[in-house]
Amino acid sequence: MTAKIIDCRKIAADLNQKTANEVSILKSKYVTVPKIMTIKIGNDTASNLYLKLRDEACKKTGIISKHVEFENNVSGSEVLDTIGQLNDDRNVHGILIQFPVPKNISSEKLLLKIDPKKDVEGLNPINLGKTMIGNESLIPCTPKAVLTILSYEKTQLQGRNVVIVNHSNIVGKPLSILLLNRNATVTVCHVFTDNLSKYSKEADILISATGVPKLISQEKIKKGAFVIDVGIVKTKDGVCGDVDFSSVKEKAGKITPVPGGVGPVTIASSLQNMITTFRNCIEETT
Ligand SMILES: NC(=O)c1ccc[n+]([C@@H]2O[C@H](COP(=O)([O-])OP(=O)(O)OC[C@H]3O[C@@H](n4cnc5c(N)ncnc54)[C@H](OP(=O)(O)O)[C@@H]3O)[C@@H](O)[C@H]2O)c1
Repeated sequence: MTAKIIDCRKIAADLNQKTANEVSILKSKYVTVPKIMTIKIGNDTASNLYLKLRDEACKKTGIISKHVEFENNVSGSEVLDTIGQLNDDRNVHGILIQFPVPKNISSEKLLLKIDPKKDVEGLNPINLGKTMIGNESLIPCTPKAVLTILSYEKTQLQGRNVVIVNHSNIVGKPLSILLLNRNATVTVCHVFTDNLSKYSKEADILISATGVPKLISQEKIKKGAFVIDVGIVKTKDGVCGDVDFSSVKEKAGKITPVPGGVGPVTIASSLQNMITTFRNCIEETT
């Protein structure tokens, strides 16, 4: 069996087209377009690339994307003050923090400070809590991208065995809740999981986001599984994911590639969330 390789760039282009259409409708209705601010601290290479790609997508869809940039040695209170000002600014309709931030700054405090209605990444505890009880108005972008890919492929989730290899706050934890909300049977694995294969081989849908190249080998998957590779790793041979693509594609039913997989859909999902935060702001005041 050779897996269907999911054309995630096509999915992202379709989503971005829909976002552009929506921006144009909103512009004619409200005579303004979404303006989004990203807080960036330091000069992380991967963050810079991600921001560049997201800014390009924003530009194509008519969303205004600006940054507030700080040096690595900025204090947490200065960043918190800036978030407070952006929360109060009626001309700003969405706020993002570009992670990673320096270790001396509490990510948790920054995320708590963002006004939940302007929280583009759906990582403020209010939005995460809402997701937990099934109100998915603003959900984190990478889990949203995974759900979108599954939905484009018309994948049944109810009653299926889904294994997630990641338990971070931005990927594995929210994704597990979103899949439970859809009645999947969800197993979450991580670095302390004893015998990963035991679980991964049972997965109808296997989602891996570890950043460990070739962690998911052919022996670790079930024949015909849908394998979604969220991992992004830069190696001396170029960018790859967690999945040993060339061998796994011979056993899987469907597979997402890296690069050109979950990444572009995550960016497109972030733009969709910008529309939501814009609506939250503008429809509250009109
Ligand atoms: N495609 C996209 O749009 C996108 C978006 C976000 C992130 N990513 C990529 O996804 C990966 C994860 O990102 P993240 O921010 O969630 O990173 P993270 O916080 O470092 O999480 C990595 C997760 O993988 C687990 N893990 C690491 N090694 C493992 C192993 N050998 N076996 C089983 N589990 C293992 C970790 O477990 P412990 O916590 O127990 O160590 C943790 O849960 C990275 O490669 C990142 O670049 C991609």
